[in-house]
Amino acid sequence: MIAKILTFVFLCSRILYVAGDFYPRYHLAPPKGWMNDPNGFCIFKGEYHLFYQHNPYSSYGPGIVHWGHAVSRDLLHWKHLPVALDPDQWYDNGGVFSGSCLVDAGKMYLYYTGNVNHEKETPDHSQYQALATSENGYDVSKYEMNPVINGSEYQPDLRDPKVWKHGDKYYMVLGNSFKGQSNETLGRVLLWVSSDKINWEKASILLESDGELGYMFECPDFFELDGYWVLLFSPQGVKPQGDNYKNLFQTGYVVGRFDYKTNVFTPVFKFKELDHGHDLYATQSTLDRQGKRIVIAWMDMWDQNYPEQAEGFNGQMTIPRRLQLTKDGRIIQTPVKDILAARGRVLHTGRTRSDKVIRLDDKTAEIVIRSSPLRDFELLLEAENTTVKINYDRVRGLVTLDRGGKDGVRRTNWRPRGILVWKLYIDASSIELFCGEGEVTFSSRYFPVGPVKVRLGKASEAENMTVRSMKTTVDINPNNVNEPQE
Ligand SMILES: *[C@@H]1O[C@H](CO)[C@@H](O)[C@H](O)[C@H]1NC(C)=O
Ligand SMILES: *[C@@H]1O[C@H](CO)[C@@H](O)[C@H](O)[C@H]1NC(C)=O
Ligand SMILES: *[C@@H]1O[C@H](CO)[C@@H](O)[C@H](O)[C@H]1NC(C)=O
Ligand SMILES: *[C@@H]1O[C@H](CO)[C@@H](O)[C@H](O)[C@H]1NC(C)=O
Repeated sequence: MIAKILTFVFLCSRILYVAGDFYPRYHLAPPKGWMNDPNGFCIFKGEYHLFYQHNPYSSYGPGIVHWGHAVSRDLLHWKHLPVALDPDQWYDNGGVFSGSCLVDAGKMYLYYTGNVNHEKETPDHSQYQALATSENGYDVSKYEMNPVINGSEYQPDLRDPKVWKHGDKYYMVLGNSFKGQSNETLGRVLLWVSSDKINWEKASILLESDGELGYMFECPDFFELDGYWVLLFSPQGVKPQGDNYKNLFQTGYVVGRFDYKTNVFTPVFKFKELDHGHDLYATQSTLDRQGKRIVIAWMDMWDQNYPEQAEGFNGQMTIPRRLQLTKDGRIIQTPVKDILAARGRVLHTGRTRSDKVIRLDDKTAEIVIRSSPLRDFELLLEAENTTVKINYDRVRGLVTLDRGGKDGVRRTNWRPRGILVWKLYIDASSIELFCGEGEVTFSSRYFPVGPVKVRLGKASEAENMTVRSMKTTVDINPNNVNEPQE
């Protein structure tokens, strides 16, 4: 009998919660299977294209990874396309790893890393840089003379090409690891130059780890922003320090100056983490239609085994964000304006105290709050199985996001001048918090079962709190998938 009841409960919970309960409504996730790093982010013939690391066959890991592909007119309404790149060549048969898109002379040039595994050998893999092109943005073909960079001196970890054009030359940054003076493995970013997009030469080392920044730099991106140059990358092997570097791997940036004549990058400000939540990795930026720098990232982290895997998918992207730089070298992030198109109805607005409980529509919301800098503040998101607490300690100048469970707390300094502004984007299994003008952000996954309610903590008060629902802008029917091209 007990077994029968349990089976019944199990079946009910499956019916209620497993059919897409955690699948995002307005963030890009794979139609099925696994997603990690964003790749090939670009605007081409009037549409935004986003490729990504993808396993179409399983949600439990990248497998021998492919490139998934989605397209959007506005960075928010995404349409899934067939798998763009399969691991089917000698130089990528261990995975079509991350890379980027250069749009040049009306064509897409997709640079990526071909990974090759060597069983029972040391090192156990090699990584080549390869090229694929597309005339129409939909049909992609690999270059016949691949790889374009063999990189034999830099093996085994040489990956994630990000390519751009300047003048009549092409530039590529690559993540790499090398042996330090005491034979320790250290991360670095290499710069390569080409005059024909095919033949590449190493030009300089942009930045290398002194040990503090770990053993490998992944997904480097390098661009001008508000008068400086930003080297944005994902170092692996950075040790936790107080409230910093608490995730398995980090993403952050070094701001400095760069000279195209010498190819030398001179850091001006120290490495800073881009985000303070649990789940942000492997950023990739591009220029939007207005020529503004925008970035997207994998909103997940390695080795988490989140419960969405049982729903047949893993991983989602962040909301694309506009980047700006302050005079003291800090990145400010704000959701792209297109997010307004996903706004739904207003559920609540006005002066708010803790007795007000707002039940979200379909677990989604945009929440904008203004609160006094003279008092502490707390916001709670509650579901049947979880409570997320966000709070501000005005004496210590600390903002904390606690999603509960093991390692639930993420915290950082925030000392805004004047009123506290909180902007939150809640989706079926994610929270993005933008503090102030976007100078502090937290991006974290959470897995609420049942309806989600939001309210202020005891003794908290909002001068104004506006809660809106968010529309569905991605296909949430898990059966509605594009089969990978065979
Ligand atoms: C890569 O280049 C090195 C040196 O030029 C060469 O010895 C090696 O065979 C090349 N490997 C491949 C797979 O082409
Ligand atoms: C350096 O480390 C590698 C393993 O990472 C080891 O195989 C090699 O013998 C070491 N070399 C020296 C000089 O210690
Ligand atoms: C909420 O439910 C999901 C699915 O059952 C579970 O994986 C997750 O850990 C739960 N969250 C908490 C905080 O209990
Ligand atoms: C509260 O904020 C909303 C949205 O930002 C705005 O439309 C409304 O006028 C504000 N209300 C007050 C009382 O300031």
